[in-house]
This record gives sequence, structure tokens and C-alpha cells, in this order.
Amino acid sequence: MSISTNIEERFNEQIQKEFFSEYLYISMEAYFKQMSLDGFANYFHVQALEERDHAMMFFNYVIDTGGKIQLRQIDKPKNDFASPLEVFQLSLDHEKFVTRSIHSLVSAAQDEKDYTANTFLQWFITEQREEESNMDRVLNKLKLVEGDGRGLLLLDAELALRVYAPPANANMPG
Ligand code: FEO
Repeated sequence: MSISTNIEERFNEQIQKEFFSEYLYISMEAYFKQMSLDGFANYFHVQALEERDHAMMFFNYVIDTGGKIQLRQIDKPKNDFASPLEVFQLSLDHEKFVTRSIHSLVSAAQDEKDYTANTFLQWFITEQREEESNMDRVLNKLKLVEGDGRGLLLLDAELALRVYAPPANANMPG
């Protein structure tokens, strides 16, 4: 099924949101690197790579369905953070925003009876649930640690283990 003008527009907007997410998480990676919390930095490094994948999955979908890519401006992300706790609170809030955006895309696809787009979007619904859950778990641990240095270092060691893996998805080329 060819992409409609409306879905094409909405998917191009989503590409912008995913690239903004990448940019935001690179900013968070920088914050942690500057604190020598390399495990936290790794967590956001991997997260940023995943966001680029998300953007490119929408990019490939638009092209594969005969649409046109219209890239938008990427806003400046926040560059200053008060604490690791604030970073995770903001990242979780941002993911909730992205989840609402994905859900709204699903509604648009269903309104148009665009089952192809609807199926494509289901992967993102699952991905958003996982992302929110992962961030929420780290946020909860940070609340337990309450800024204690040893607790932060233990969590840093845990987050250093996160490994990037490209999504197994038909919309990611080879
Ligand atoms: Fe691509 Fe974190 O949503």
C-alpha cells in the first residue's frame, strides 16, 4: 500500500523526533562522561544509537512505500542537568512523550485503514514499553541511592554492561 500524504507527513515528523532523541541522549552521555561515570555514559551512548535506528526505520518505511523524505530542523537539546536523577527523570518523561506520539500515529493509520503502517508501528509500541520500563528501573535505583557515591558507582558498573544490538526488523537494511 502506498503511503498517504498525511501518514507521510506524520512519519517525517516522527523521524525528527527520533533524531532529536538521539541528540538529547548524546547530551546526557556527555554529562555523564564529564562526571567520569562511564557506565551511565555508555547507557546513553547505546540509547542514542537505538534512536538513530528508529529514525532510519521510519526513513526506510517512507521510501519503501513511495513517500518523500522531508527532513526537519533538530532542536537544541538541554545541555545542563542538576543530577543523575534529573537526567533519568527527563529521559523517562521524553520517552513518555514519544510513546504518545507513536500511539497517535497508530490512531492515524487505523483511521485510514492503513494496515501496513499499523503493522510497522506495532514494533515501536513494544519498544516504547521496554524503553520506559528500563528507564523507570534505573530511576528507581537512583532514588534508592539518593546521591550516595558508592551506590552511584555500583549502578555505573551495572550500566557499563549495556551492549548495542541493531534491531532485528524488516525495515532495517541488511
Ligand atoms: Fe525511539 Fe526512545 O524512542
